[in-house]
Amino acid sequence: MKYTFEEIMSEHEYAQANEMAGYLLHGGLDSEGNYISPRTKKRWDAINEWSNNLTGQGNPLLDCSVQILKYGNYPNFDQAKYLLSLGEGTFLWNSLTITGIIEARGRALAEITAPDFQQIIKEDISQTATGHMNKGLFVAHGFDEGGDPDSKQGAHDQMWFAARDLLFGKDAYPIPEVPDNIGRPVEEEDKWPIPVEYAGIVDFLMNVLMIEVRAECFFQFSMNIAACEELFQDRRDDALLAAEMVRRIRQDEAVHVAYLNLIVSELRTFTFKTEKGELLGSDFIDSHWNKMVKWHGEEIHHEFKDQRIEIVEETLKNQENADSVIESFHRLAS
Ligand SMILES: [Fe+2]
Ligand SMILES: [Fe+2]
Repeated sequence: MKYTFEEIMSEHEYAQANEMAGYLLHGGLDSEGNYISPRTKKRWDAINEWSNNLTGQGNPLLDCSVQILKYGNYPNFDQAKYLLSLGEGTFLWNSLTITGIIEARGRALAEITAPDFQQIIKEDISQTATGHMNKGLFVAHGFDEGGDPDSKQGAHDQMWFAARDLLFGKDAYPIPEVPDNIGRPVEEEDKWPIPVEYAGIVDFLMNVLMIEVRAECFFQFSMNIAACEELFQDRRDDALLAAEMVRRIRQDEAVHVAYLNLIVSELRTFTFKTEKGELLGSDFIDSHWNKMVKWHGEEIHHEFKDQRIEIVEETLKNQENADSVIESFHRLAS
């Protein structure tokens, strides 16, 4: 269960390039035309082996399904359909653009070197995901999101922009403002028994994991919108291509959720050497994870929702019978 950096980064031999809508993109197709995610020749096997090792010892993986989010996408599918039928596409254009820009920032993962966790963990971690953070897991993830600088293939950032342009056409709306930070900010009450450089990485990985879970919600939503036959009537073929583009991004993301979930789940089971003696990981990881789930699944939703309502109402004001249109929009809420 020990893998080299090169093995984690290794690619399948593809029968065809992943070319869509004029973009050359990462990953590739097999001889039957099925999409294969980039850098997954060994990465999935490794993650599955480590996962089986963990669960085989009676330790669970965390629940990282969308069920842990208290709320779904806002606006919901019916509201989105209503807005698009009125010719109001800004909300979706903005979400797709912001998602692409945030994906590009994920490239930073490739530059991160974690401190040596073996220094503070009692058990041998050489055959775990935790022991492979710097052996390709972060670099592969960063390249999946923002691209490999040595390749000409686009990654998730470009894939989102391509999906957006397939739906709306290039430059259909202005580029929106993008939030600086989409993770849970560090709170004063956050106390860690491990040194700050380690705690910082654990906190960061939990944030990225929850952002990935939230993204899953948006994938389903975007695919349903693009595939809906009543929408984008003048460009149905392009809309279906957009849905396929998002489906491929979604397939790539599964490996991110899997290894991040695995690392946090492993950390819960390790014995940490702290100033106050030995401590089981779950003793301090669990409370932090719970806060993380609450923030991403609940607290941030309210904030985003308020902002989005404001923007939607502002744009709907220009519609004829604005008041009743706004009322109809709200009546479709989940
Ligand atoms: Fe991504
Ligand atoms: Fe991701």
